[in-house]
Amino acid sequence: MRIGSLILCCVVPVLAFLGAVASAANPFAGSNLYYAAYVNEANTSVRTFRGLQNAGMKVLRVWLDGQSETQKGTNINPFPDLEPVQICNSVSSCYNDTVLDHLDEFMLLARSHDMKLLVDMHSFNALQADDVYGTEYGIADFYTNAIAQEASDARFVHVLNHVQTTLHQPWKELNEYTCGFEAENEAMIGDAQTFIEDHQQWQCDRANTIKTELKANTGVHPRPHWVVLTGGESWVVESVQPGFLNCTALDVISIHAYAVTDYYTSSDIESYVQQALDANTKFIVEEWGVCYYDTSNNDYPSGAALPTDTRNYNIQGWAANITAAGLPRLYWEAIPNADPHWGGDYEVGIVDGPSWNTLKQAARDALSAPAGFNFSEYLL
Ligand SMILES: *[C@@H]1O[C@H](CO)[C@@H](O)[C@H](O)[C@H]1NC(C)=O
Ligand SMILES: *[C@@H]1O[C@H](CO)[C@@H](O)[C@H](O)[C@H]1NC(C)=O
Ligand SMILES: *[C@@H]1O[C@H](CO)[C@@H](O)[C@H](O)[C@H]1NC(C)=O
Ligand SMILES: *[C@@H]1O[C@H](CO)[C@@H](O)[C@H](O)[C@H]1NC(C)=O
Ligand SMILES: *[C@@H]1O[C@H](CO)[C@@H](O)[C@H](O)[C@H]1NC(C)=O
Repeated sequence: MRIGSLILCCVVPVLAFLGAVASAANPFAGSNLYYAAYVNEANTSVRTFRGLQNAGMKVLRVWLDGQSETQKGTNINPFPDLEPVQICNSVSSCYNDTVLDHLDEFMLLARSHDMKLLVDMHSFNALQADDVYGTEYGIADFYTNAIAQEASDARFVHVLNHVQTTLHQPWKELNEYTCGFEAENEAMIGDAQTFIEDHQQWQCDRANTIKTELKANTGVHPRPHWVVLTGGESWVVESVQPGFLNCTALDVISIHAYAVTDYYTSSDIESYVQQALDANTKFIVEEWGVCYYDTSNNDYPSGAALPTDTRNYNIQGWAANITAAGLPRLYWEAIPNADPHWGGDYEVGIVDGPSWNTLKQAARDALSAPAGFNFSEYLL
């Protein structure tokens, strides 16, 4: 389907299945900024958080992988990977904590704007770009090799025990600054849906490591107020696996989907939400984005720019469908500068972006809608 011809036929009424939990809470909104740690001017970061706060957004999802160049028109300071030279496997002097030190400051800023960070601890993108794990194992063996699994677990433990520079407490105690952790952005994508189905235990095993480390703090906090998430796959059907639903260490299943049809209220999204409710787990639309171009939304788009009104109409309509499903959502991505429209383009510039007001309004609208899942204990 081409977005340019999308017609918003109707604002869908609240789904009947949400009736029983309609008073539970409201869906929240947030955004992604994978290179957040590298934004090179304090003012740019402040402006970002002011904008997001103004939209009522609660969560910003960040990654830990090194970046060396300007991203999406945002000036950044280059930083190395957390494991820049070799796989560290618990040898603490081997990790380069620069990225964690930067996020230390960034999380304080987030908190002062009533937001928390959701931390993704490694990304498929880094693996594919041949970071130390990609070089050693490639994008499939990384998930099947026992030593790679052990080294990944060691990385998570290292991150969770990183001592915040000014608060002098490890991240695993700072649940007022972070709301959740996940092992990998889009684990196993590029290996086919059947590979994800065959290796779904990988997610539960990694989540167990993360959860165990967080739970070791029960003495400090009566309950661990964090969620452990899957980090998403490429579309809804891939993102939801039975072995994710039944894994007690996984609190939240992340949905990443860029096909408009994945959020059609008339299709599967409703039955998926019901599966999560039945399994006593939660869903988040952790990545969604509305294309700037007139190509199909999930077609790594680049084409002719849509008229602003059409794109805004699409943002509104898609957000309304996500709201009707009762789901919280993080946009890919609200960026701190005017959007230069590089590459596959879903971004919305917080500063002067012609779609920012629409996205902001959609985020605010969610705050008064009924939710399928109650996240309030994890948010500020
Ligand atoms: C949502 O969760 C919060 C925190 O656990 C709780 O106080 C509140 O009662 C819940 N809301 C409903 C309607 O269950
Ligand atoms: C950052 O913001 C402060 C206060 O608003 C201002 O005085 C300063 O000039 C800004 N710095 C830059 C580099 O824009
Ligand atoms: C970490 O990386 C930074 C930036 O490249 C570098 O200056 C620093 O020496 C590195 N630290 C360690 C412990 O390797
Ligand atoms: C969870 O689901 C997976 C995939 O269907 C299955 O292999 C596993 O046995 C289930 N585990 C439990 C504890 O039910
Ligand atoms: C919302 O879902 C309805 C029902 O499936 C569909 O007709 C409509 O096109 C969707 N809206 C958008 C903007 O995708």
